[in-house]
Amino acid sequence: MRTNIMVLPGDGIGPEVTAEGVKALLAVGRRFKHDFALQEDIVGGASIDKFGVALRPETLERCRQCDAVLFGAIGGPKWDNPAALVRPEDAILGLRKGLRLYANLRPVKVAPFLVDAGPLKAETVRGVDIVVIRELTGGIYFGKPKRRWRTAAGRRAVDTLRYTEQEVARVVRVGFDLARLRRKKLTSVDKANVMESSRLWREVTNEVAKEYPDVALEHMLVDACAMHLIRRPADFDVIVTENLFGDILTDEASVLAGSMGMLPSASLGAGVRRGRRMGLYEPIHGSAPDIAGQGKANPIAMVLSMAMMLRLSFGLENEAACVERAVTRVLEQGYRTADIANEGAPVLTTTAMGDRIAEAIGSV
Ligand code: IPM
Ligand code: MG
Repeated sequence: MRTNIMVLPGDGIGPEVTAEGVKALLAVGRRFKHDFALQEDIVGGASIDKFGVALRPETLERCRQCDAVLFGAIGGPKWDNPAALVRPEDAILGLRKGLRLYANLRPVKVAPFLVDAGPLKAETVRGVDIVVIRELTGGIYFGKPKRRWRTAAGRRAVDTLRYTEQEVARVVRVGFDLARLRRKKLTSVDKANVMESSRLWREVTNEVAKEYPDVALEHMLVDACAMHLIRRPADFDVIVTENLFGDILTDEASVLAGSMGMLPSASLGAGVRRGRRMGLYEPIHGSAPDIAGQGKANPIAMVLSMAMMLRLSFGLENEAACVERAVTRVLEQGYRTADIANEGAPVLTTTAMGDRIAEAIGSV
């Protein structure tokens, strides 16, 4: 299979982890005889420095011509000025919107040998296997008006949370479809006791639910969900929610897995070309400027994002499963990066971890 993949390393630890994702991808190509054609471009702060914008139109266009995008991370203190007119985040927001990637899948699965890695009790996180589906091109991130202005009485600002029923229905369907393939339970998260947009969300979700009588649907308020996620996380199967709620809940959920450095994500739209579903794949962690360039970053989230790409964009199930087995094997053998290592245990650098995984892909 020949596939065109756009690689966008970005800023901070983005380039370091992306290099390991690509290393693992090439190992898959060698083992399964695939020809992955890779292109690379500059986005985020690096692009602001070079071109004055976080995402150039030609970069977006090149991504559109590809079958999938592998994205590292963007941002850093250098570009953090709140008064700045261009921000690194424009790159990822522009890609999501520009490529119409409305469903963001964030799986949170706790590996048995990492139940002690995080701050929560092992018995709370054991067996956790959740997929959060975050709506990604609507809601308060993109609603208009969105602006700041001055009045005689002082400064004001507005963001707008708006949804159409079509936007809700299509992402909720992704949730039902996925729940059907799993434990058949969908939790729709909203704030319907306060917000009109949430009341529409709930109404549309109930309508779509009629097409899925085999899936158990529950509605949960976002504040309660934040609590239950750390109190009884193993009870969740698939969660579907609004853009900002999903942003917040997935950072919270990442704590369950012991480290953000373990969690991949996939952003999917409706577009299918040449039998392939266009998607953007990125670790859920950010650019971690505090550890950038030190070889401390955990490349596993990126490697697992690459596995999601193989499965969801290219339908390469065996290859994806092989990458996931390789990661499990390396962890079973006791190899750890700093973020998941027990105190005093030996720690691998980003590249050393990537080497172990690439080796394992050749043999598991
Ligand atoms: C995420 C990030 C982004 C978001 C930022 C970098 C714009 O937090 O992917 O979760 O808010 O969506
Ligand atoms: Mg976030």
